[in-house]
Amino acid sequence: MNLNPNADIADYYSAETFKRIKDFADGKETPFVVIDTQTIDRQYEELVEGFPYAKVYYAVKANPAPQILTMLRDKGACFDIASVYELDKVMGLGVTGDRISYGNTIKKAKDIRTFYEKGVRLFATDSEADLRNIAKAAPGSKVYVRILTEGTLTADWPLSRKFGCQTDMAMDLLILARDLGLVPYGVSFHVGSQQREIGAWDAALNKVKVIFERLKEEDGIELKMINMGGGFPANYITRTNELAVYAEEIARFLREDFGDDLPEIIIEPGRSLISNAGVLVSEVVLISRKSRTALHRWVFTDVGKFSGLIETLDESIKFPIWTEKTGEGEDCVIAGPTCDSADIMYEHHKYPLPLNLAIGDRMYWLSTGAYTTTYSAVEFNGFPPLKDYYI
Ligand SMILES: Cc1ncc(COP(=O)(O)O)c(C=O)c1O
Repeated sequence: MNLNPNADIADYYSAETFKRIKDFADGKETPFVVIDTQTIDRQYEELVEGFPYAKVYYAVKANPAPQILTMLRDKGACFDIASVYELDKVMGLGVTGDRISYGNTIKKAKDIRTFYEKGVRLFATDSEADLRNIAKAAPGSKVYVRILTEGTLTADWPLSRKFGCQTDMAMDLLILARDLGLVPYGVSFHVGSQQREIGAWDAALNKVKVIFERLKEEDGIELKMINMGGGFPANYITRTNELAVYAEEIARFLREDFGDDLPEIIIEPGRSLISNAGVLVSEVVLISRKSRTALHRWVFTDVGKFSGLIETLDESIKFPIWTEKTGEGEDCVIAGPTCDSADIMYEHHKYPLPLNLAIGDRMYWLSTGAYTTTYSAVEFNGFPPLKDYYI
């Protein structure tokens, strides 16, 4: 028996912020996500305070809403862009090419050309074919090579494997970049999104250091930049350290490897900036049991894997859930509204929802500002994409 089955709001929002969000949400038809831009503002300041030596390139994929992009533009942020579509969006708001990095290692030659024509001169790569495309379509640009990292097991949403290359290949590519008339500018990595093990940055920076030293000694190439990617934590059910602890530790790793004279440092936060600014509000559609003696209920809600909660895939991200009902809880399976049996958010990790939760009640999914709106399907089972509001 669980007498306090709801997430504790105070762990995620100030009372004032949650009230602001909830007041706004009351009466609006579900499902939707409300994003509190004041929270993003505060989290951006925290990030800058924690990483005063770094340039922030916001990972636009986390949430490309114009309200967020405009705010970050005005605060002086740069942007990590994944596609020409994101490029158009960001440039449409007046951001110039010198504040943009084309961070996707998988891109068409014609898209590289578009970025170049629009003034972008900073490109990520991790393969020879892509590098040769960059040399042709964006001559003379700065390139940084993304390396593979460990940390897959401690990141809730791992990214390595698909992206990055081994250290030796990274060095080969940086030498080739020089030979192709590009500027071999630096090295990047992403330790995995929602990375709970801070040591993952240490291991990655050790590899970067080897590349910096060897290229200088053996090839006379002086790299100028380290892009430490994203991976900083949002606040979900599974605990992480505070951002300040990450910042302190990572500063120590950098000093240990590079001394006081740091190269240019870039970070690309997405989740850590945006997640905790959002609350997704859904409604319970149906509650059932699968047999007369079943020990748990199935709670079906009007939001699911295909309408913003895809990061529940493999139950990777465990969003805190709050309802207005209190009292005794009972373990539930939580599933979405579509006719697809993959549309189950949590089955192994059983959330204890209040026993008196009823059809029509609202569920508040906390820390859902990032990677929800954009992941939402266009028309699966006829359901429209997730609505979003910005306050
Ligand atoms: C290249 C790159 N940078 C930054 C990010 C943002 O990472 P996070 O949301 O963990 O901060 C991502 C996420 O996929 C990415 O692919």
